Amino acid sequence: MTYRVEKAKINDAAQIHRLINHFADKGEMLARPLSEIYENIRDYFVVRQNEQVMACAALHINWEDLAEIKSLVVSEESQKHGLGDKLIAACLKEAERLGIATVFCLTYRPAFFEKCGFSLVDRSELPHKVWGECYRCPQFPNCDEVALVCHLEVKV
Ligand SMILES: CC(C)(COP(=O)(O)OP(=O)(O)OC[C@H]1O[C@@H](n2cnc3c(N)ncnc32)[C@H](O)[C@@H]1OP(=O)(O)O)[C@@H](O)C(=O)NCCC(=O)NCCS
Repeated sequence: MTYRVEKAKINDAAQIHRLINHFADKGEMLARPLSEIYENIRDYFVVRQNEQVMACAALHINWEDLAEIKSLVVSEESQKHGLGDKLIAACLKEAERLGIATVFCLTYRPAFFEKCGFSLVDRSELPHKVWGECYRCPQFPNCDEVALVCHLEVKV
């Protein structure tokens, strides 16, 4: 079966919300309110099967040269089929199209992102602004998420 990564539609928001919060409840990522998913629905990519959202990821723009991959999740039944990798590739392609030179992520799964072309960086190398969501996290301030970046060849 070939899976297609597509831009999310407004009707996907409730399923994206359930998927993210399922893993957030297990402490694997930051929870997101449904309102935030609606407000940022244009950031999201999804993989659907029979109208069901099996996986999603968001590319959120921070600044002219910086964007973040957020809320990467693949449902348990759909993992290890390359969907995570495809979603990251879609986010990076969009960043490249927009002319954004650096994409970063904050994650508990650094090895996965390293396989996708990201490199570990010291958290202090990222602007303070990107940590703005941390106060909402149950792990704050003792979080062990790590930062990784991917530099893109962009034409400006
Ligand atoms: C991290 C996560 C997004 C990865 O998604 P995924 O779709 O399983 O990712 P992929 O399938 O692209 O790669 C996962 C593994 O499957 C392997 N794989 C990919 N396609 C495969 C295939 N057809 N057959 C066998 N293995 C395959 C990959 O090589 C990779 O191996 P690894 O575990 O040694 O790294 C997923 O595990 C997840 O949603 N976890 C919970 C939430 C989370 O932690 N999100 C990240 C927060 S930022």
